[in-house]
Amino acid sequence: MKHIVLITGAGKGIGRAIALAFAKAGKDNPDFDPLLILSSRTQADLDSISLECRAEGALTDTVPADLACMGDVRRLSCHILERYGTIDCLVNNAGVGRFKPFAEMNEDDFDYTMATNLKGTFFLTQALFPAMELKRSGHIFFITSVAAEKAFKHSSIYCMSKFGQKGLVETMRLYGRECNVRITDVMPGAVHTPMWGDVDEEFQSFMMKPEDIAAPVVQAYLQPSRTTVEEIVIRPTGGDLQDS
Ligand SMILES: NC(=O)c1ccc[n+]([C@@H]2O[C@H](COP(=O)([O-])OP(=O)(O)OC[C@H]3O[C@@H](n4cnc5c(N)ncnc54)[C@H](OP(=O)(O)O)[C@@H]3O)[C@@H](O)[C@H]2O)c1
Repeated sequence: MKHIVLITGAGKGIGRAIALAFAKAGKDNPDFDPLLILSSRTQADLDSISLECRAEGALTDTVPADLACMGDVRRLSCHILERYGTIDCLVNNAGVGRFKPFAEMNEDDFDYTMATNLKGTFFLTQALFPAMELKRSGHIFFITSVAAEKAFKHSSIYCMSKFGQKGLVETMRLYGRECNVRITDVMPGAVHTPMWGDVDEEFQSFMMKPEDIAAPVVQAYLQPSRTTVEEIVIRPTGGDLQDS
């Protein structure tokens, strides 16, 4: 039986690594046959990760969508439910951040961050959860951050959005437990991805790689359905990159 898996933000960074890790797990595990729905705003990124996943033997479907746009959130969720009739795994990974001192943050920074990290994540989850609730199985991952529990001085709006996501995670846990839907909060520390822009080599050597996050996510999904890995906290061995 196919596992219908949606990964948002699958074009770059952590989402891209998660997509590839699911594809490889399908190759290595005869009981796991994933159909990967890959979504982000950039079609060219989706085409290239789709090719990589197909090379591992996974079926893919690419759906460009901007989660900051409610019309796209509806289009993406309708596409999945109309074409496949169900969903087994939702990886809420797409996210953005703008990093600067508190006094320099403006309304556009606020709206931009909240629209994707909070509004998009909330309404996509709301649209897809009922399909899991109905069949009493499914798994939702939220790629939040260590910044969902700990403040960083140049990340005021990002931290607000991630603390907010954590509120959604804990609420969805209450619903999930009633209908056998697993909820996993993934809280990474610094991972070297395009989100950070240019990073000098010294910092890069300190940071984690996207595949370091992808492996435990796929492992958590493949656990027996009677168990839920509720939280994955994963930091660089040297701790957090910046405490300012
Ligand atoms: N990197 C880290 O150190 C780190 C640490 C903890 C948590 N996280 C979290 O992990 C997640 C992934 O981060 P990352 O570092 O992999 O970032 P990234 O390299 O910038 O990749 C983000 C992905 O999300 C997509 N995306 C962004 N905004 C979107 C929107 N409005 N609609 C649809 N897709 C959107 C991007 O593609 P397009 O631009 O083409 O849409 C891209 O594919 C985020 O939620 C982030 O907060 C990251």
